[in-house]
Amino acid sequence: MSQRILIWDIPTRVFHWALALSFAGAFLTAETERYRDLHVALGYLMLGLIAFRLIWGLIGSRYARFSSFTFRPAEIVEYLKSLLHRHPKHYLGHNPAGAVAIFLLLGLGLLSGISGVLLYLEIGGEMFEDLHEGAANMMLAVVFIHIAGVAVSSLLHRENLVRSMMTGFKSGEPGQGITRPFAWLGVIMAAVMAAFLTFYQPSGSGTSGEGSTQSINHED
Ligand code: HEM
Repeated sequence: MSQRILIWDIPTRVFHWALALSFAGAFLTAETERYRDLHVALGYLMLGLIAFRLIWGLIGSRYARFSSFTFRPAEIVEYLKSLLHRHPKHYLGHNPAGAVAIFLLLGLGLLSGISGVLLYLEIGGEMFEDLHEGAANMMLAVVFIHIAGVAVSSLLHRENLVRSMMTGFKSGEPGQGITRPFAWLGVIMAAVMAAFLTFYQPSGSGTSGEGSTQSINHED
């Protein structure tokens, strides 16, 4: 008999919503010099979150591990076909199509973050400017596909995936869920992020003069 079981541990959920917010914030502050320091801080935050997720993907709980959502190309095609027929196979963790978007988001997040740091430190010049902008725009496109995919899967499976990513719970058989939520690690993550955003001091040569102190730099 189906019951509420824990699928997403707390660090995975903290990672997800912090990544979504930091990406959105970095994207929205990209164009104005005035918010350059905030933009850079959110970029560093995104890189830190992805670095954490790469480690958690190896040592984290069952459904957070990459091994639980690494699929063969044939399985991905099969899943996409089953979506078209409106009877997709149900996965408790990430489904094959969602997994592709997730790996793309992690890869593009790394690419845009690292190229942003190189740009900020004035290493490599214009080459990184194009790469930084291109990767961020591609990431935005994948985010839209990701959100559309979440909506479609939620409808087809009559399962609220957004709520699951907030509460951690889905409906499933006893014994299929994880037993440890790792709340302590989620608290540490939240504290480290809050401390970083509070005490971050711009250091790169791209620091933007007067206007920059208005964002999150508390020098004044
Ligand atoms: C309103 C916006 C968003 C919503 C509603 C949303 C929703 C979700 C949901 C429901 C899942 C779990 C999917 C599943 O059950 O397999 C998920 C996973 C994921 N999402 Fe989002 N998402 C949003 C924005 C973003 C953004 C902006 C990013 C990246 C910048 C992102 C990156 C990811 C990643 C990397 C995962 C995998 C989580 C993990 O296993 O660590 N999402 N998202």
